[in-house]
Amino acid sequence: MQQEFLTVKELYRSKEEYVGKTVKVAGWIRTSRTSKNFGFIELNDGSFFKNMQIVIAEDKLENFKEIGKLPISSSILVEGELVSTEGAKQPVEIHATNVVVEGESDSSYPLQKKRHTLEYLRTIAHLRPRSNTFSAVFRVRSLAAYAIHKFFQDRNFVYAHSPIITGSDCEGAGEMFRITTMDLQDIPTTEEGKIDYSKDFFGKEANLTVSGQLNAEIMALAFRNVYTFGPTFRAENSFTQRHASEFWMIEPEICFADLEDNMELAEDMIKYVISYVMENAPEEMEFFNSFIDKGLLERLNNVVNSEFTRLPYTKAVEMLQESGHEFEYPVNWGDDLQTEHERYLTEEIFKAPVFVTDYPKDIKAFYMRMNEDGKTVRAMDLLVPGVGEIVGGSQREEREDKLLERIEEMGLKKEDYWWYLELRKFGTATHSGFGLGFERIIMYMTGMSNIRDVIPFPRTPKNAEF
Ligand code: 4AD
Repeated sequence: MQQEFLTVKELYRSKEEYVGKTVKVAGWIRTSRTSKNFGFIELNDGSFFKNMQIVIAEDKLENFKEIGKLPISSSILVEGELVSTEGAKQPVEIHATNVVVEGESDSSYPLQKKRHTLEYLRTIAHLRPRSNTFSAVFRVRSLAAYAIHKFFQDRNFVYAHSPIITGSDCEGAGEMFRITTMDLQDIPTTEEGKIDYSKDFFGKEANLTVSGQLNAEIMALAFRNVYTFGPTFRAENSFTQRHASEFWMIEPEICFADLEDNMELAEDMIKYVISYVMENAPEEMEFFNSFIDKGLLERLNNVVNSEFTRLPYTKAVEMLQESGHEFEYPVNWGDDLQTEHERYLTEEIFKAPVFVTDYPKDIKAFYMRMNEDGKTVRAMDLLVPGVGEIVGGSQREEREDKLLERIEEMGLKKEDYWWYLELRKFGTATHSGFGLGFERIIMYMTGMSNIRDVIPFPRTPKNAEF
């Protein structure tokens, strides 16, 4: 059946081929205006951001009255002539000769032709993909995912699938969702009163992954350059605009590569993805620029054409302290940068993306390579205006003795990391990697300010509907 119908995208892109011919399209009515003997229907078929205008006239269409009265969101099959309308709002329209109703919508359809708030649209996640904003966001999301795979595949990276169920906590932050098949009322405990996971499904504690990094490291030490791209989960109970409980992360891991190589890779990838989306979704990007974030395109063009700043954490702290700005949280060496500090750096001082490097060891994970000073580690976060941190990465500690020291210092159990330590025993290599938050880069590219509005079905505390 589907082959009978051309897509609106094809008709727009190859209009010369079809003008003057009879064509068939199928889609949903976005708006409808009818007078006594003719009318206009804006039809969206899902293939393209723009609608196709369908002209209906009483003398050409047998069921003109019925079609003219259809409520918004009704689905119809249309046959008619494609007519060039150069100079009008849209370059082509279809003069209908036959319209069949597939599914008449109920007139209570909530997405009427007015602007709805994003908060309201979140309550109807089953219908919001049909709105202009979400049609644009989710198509950009799809294209960006493709661009990421293309970027890595073109560079001969191996796509490594890391497990979703795992026994280890990569970040050591204890923000994991636990998986169990045990009935809550009869969870067995050990003599010390701790949960006895040996009786559970996997015979040990199992969680949803917070990061595929440790698995990516295993693969990188065999394949040299790899990347993961999949869902990750964090049980952070934070109600911010930038945190979700389920989000997608891209985690490349590269061997014989230090932090400089790592930053270069992150910068190249981000520029590539932005350029790809601007080139392949011009209508959607124009929409964001006009209705969501004025100046977005200019900013993204600048990002693609400029070099990202690299700034050691110690220097960042000095700049913030010397800025004279009064922050809610004071800036002290040794503390993590707060959102307000990150925003000040990128939005007031640099007005561009900034890599902050070499953070104090105590605020970073156990696996990062210790610097000569014994106080900082070879870490990098990429901060961008408007969103804050979109990338977190590091050069990994490749020395077995130093790694063991850190594991013990941080109170982790070395038995849990025996395989990770063995990677350092059997042909260790300088290696580095990072995690890019997929939703965060989508927010950055679209100007959408809430992470709930770049995920089709967001998972946040108290929200697992749909
Ligand atoms: O900085 P993070 O925690 O780094 C890691 O997980 C490393 N293991 C990555 C690696 O080196 N392979 O997270 C990386 C990125 C953040 O910069 C942010 O963009 C995103 O993941 N992120 C989140 N995105 C949405 N919701 C959350 N709750 C997020 N937590 C992290």
